[in-house]
Amino acid sequence: MIQFTVKRYLNICLISGLMAFGFLPSPAMLMDESLITIETMHTALVYRVEDSEVNCYYFGESLQDYEVFRSVTTPAKGPLISSARGQNFNEPALRVTHHDGVLSTELTYIKHETKAVSPGVRQTIITLKDKVYAFWVEVSFTAWFNEDIISMSTRLLNREPGPVQLFDYASGYLPLYAGKYFLTSFHGEWYSEMNLQEEELTRGIKILDSRHGTRSTHKLSPAFILSLDRPATETTGHLVAGTIAWSGNWSLTFEKQVSEVVHCLGGINSEGSEWELAPGGSFQTPRFLFTYSAAGKGRASRYFHRWARKYALMQGERLRPTLLNNWEGTYFDFDERKIEEIIRDGSEIGVEMFVLDDGWFGSRYPRDNDRAGLGDWTVNRKKLPGGIGHLIEQTHARGMKFGIWIEPEMVNPKSELYERHPEWVLQEPTRDRYRQRNQYVLDMGNPSVQDFVFGITDHLLTEYPAIAYIKWDANSHFSNVGSTVLPTERQSYVNIAYTQGLYHVLDRIRAKYPEVMMQVCASGGGRVDYGALPYFHEFWTSDDTDALQRIFIQWGTSHFFPAIAMAAHVSATPGHLTHRVLPIKFRFDVAMTGRLGMELQPGQMSEEEKAFSNMALKTYREIVRPVVQLGDLYRLVSPYEHNIASLMYVSTDRRRAVLFAYHHHFRFGDMFDNIRPQGLDPTARYKIRDINTIDPERQKWSEHSYTGEFLMKHGFRVVSSWGSTDDPLAIGLFGEYTSEVVELQQVD
Ligand code: GLA
Repeated sequence: MIQFTVKRYLNICLISGLMAFGFLPSPAMLMDESLITIETMHTALVYRVEDSEVNCYYFGESLQDYEVFRSVTTPAKGPLISSARGQNFNEPALRVTHHDGVLSTELTYIKHETKAVSPGVRQTIITLKDKVYAFWVEVSFTAWFNEDIISMSTRLLNREPGPVQLFDYASGYLPLYAGKYFLTSFHGEWYSEMNLQEEELTRGIKILDSRHGTRSTHKLSPAFILSLDRPATETTGHLVAGTIAWSGNWSLTFEKQVSEVVHCLGGINSEGSEWELAPGGSFQTPRFLFTYSAAGKGRASRYFHRWARKYALMQGERLRPTLLNNWEGTYFDFDERKIEEIIRDGSEIGVEMFVLDDGWFGSRYPRDNDRAGLGDWTVNRKKLPGGIGHLIEQTHARGMKFGIWIEPEMVNPKSELYERHPEWVLQEPTRDRYRQRNQYVLDMGNPSVQDFVFGITDHLLTEYPAIAYIKWDANSHFSNVGSTVLPTERQSYVNIAYTQGLYHVLDRIRAKYPEVMMQVCASGGGRVDYGALPYFHEFWTSDDTDALQRIFIQWGTSHFFPAIAMAAHVSATPGHLTHRVLPIKFRFDVAMTGRLGMELQPGQMSEEEKAFSNMALKTYREIVRPVVQLGDLYRLVSPYEHNIASLMYVSTDRRRAVLFAYHHHFRFGDMFDNIRPQGLDPTARYKIRDINTIDPERQKWSEHSYTGEFLMKHGFRVVSSWGSTDDPLAIGLFGEYTSEVVELQQVD
């Protein structure tokens, strides 16, 4: 403390002396420069420049006045960016070896500037430089004021006389301060994505990461919620929620010190990704996105959803069509007649688009299973003699749009492409080539591969401009991390070059085809991240379409990603791998909380199921879709905590809402608390009714209307084992796999 004061005093003397002789700007200017505030409507991040260092003093709810931070004497939480060595003994956000072999980096403040990027969006760039070396770091923040999201990223510039080796180069670093920390993370795999887990952080390091190359969100998602002091609920508690916008290997590190500070850093996973910065070169890290909520997890999710719809999805505020995909209906086993039938039956039940999945291509090596043909993007005329054009005509004739599946980054060894270009796949000269799902991964860092992959989409869309939707899949991770186009000493570039190459191709596609809808898929939900999503309209949430499992998968996914992007399909029963028999209403009621679609052969449904589907698709189009796709989500009853689950969406003007309730595990005699809606206007009156039911009686509006306040405080009574549901404020969940959908509408 004394040391600090004396040092400060000496600095002040030095600064005053320099100012007196005109070497430094005036006190007012200096004061202005000394505080850097990144602010959104409800959140603020405050840095102070002192002794030519930039230190973080505050991250939390926004304040009326930040001037106080010029003089507070409480210690800083940590630096702007923690660099390796020197006095830092914690996990660094930045670790490089300078051109002369020096391992440490000591960053000093040079300048900062803030500018408006667009209405409500401001960017602040803080420039730092090593004390000795011509090594510069630009730390860039973007603050979306109304949406309460902040991003952080760095640009590293080498002006040293020789190359600098980059080892760790996180996009963002946040020093956090609380008594206790509870980390929520999302783990999963194929068929079981985005499961929630929560743990208290103890001293030491906790790392979440991915090393899969592609399919970067299987195993773990690059998303976290860190509750401060006590575990947050949906509506209470302070927390930081963050994610990394990168579709390759990523890592998130939480280091709890001996003191109560937690160092949180995230970005590209540096394992096996050493990068050499040539003199004059620069490296841009991806965005680390985060928000702060003082009112629980639900609010943080809504911040991300609103931001995503406006800024991080293709046409995120435009309603999405319902669709029918043939994959689970046919797998590879189809021909033209079968597809024509599916199109016809789909149009009869009322879907708006048909999507032809895997299996339509390959001539010499037809894609009749997953062992051949991948890479040969010419139509299989044996299966589809009329080609894609004929299917588009059929689809259009029935008033629907047409979409198609591709997996352009991959190749089967049994393909004409691989025969022509074995050098295009990721490989190590001395190792066996590993396959996943019988395929190799093309080297997206190779410019020729990039041209080829762009060409697949370009040819399809040029030849068939009526294609309205592309499902872009990627079904293998990296096993042989090696490239034939990179020199020996740069093989460690492969991971990053791949993702950069992928984004480069997607940039080209979007420049030429801004309108075509695209879905990102990677063996289900293996690429659900905000690096990929700006190119896409939506993601395939999981190959698991079993509605019971989907309650959990969609619950986890909804923490960071909005319903409009979350593709959710009704499939046949019993479930493909779960073998569970589920009622058609339950299947629809679950799928309706995302972008609704179907994935079966409608012709194989019973007449009752067809009639129900017809009604449900109409209900979705006319009532549910605008509220779910563009409204705010409130998670009301967690399936992790109860044998029922409930969630609701409220239109942004709060005039309309739709509430969903499910009974996913039945035990006779279970008692449940009332389901209490959230997000309604407390003073407005709402009428209520059941929807998505065949029974017209049950769809009548309640005779009474209720205030939002009453509904939110009193809630709906759950009737599950016995009792009457005549009361409009009762939700009947009699037995396993029952569900209800309630519409709420303001009365003028
Ligand atoms: C992946 C996708 C599925 C389907 C198949 C086709 O598994 O996740 O939806 O497209 O590939 O092979």
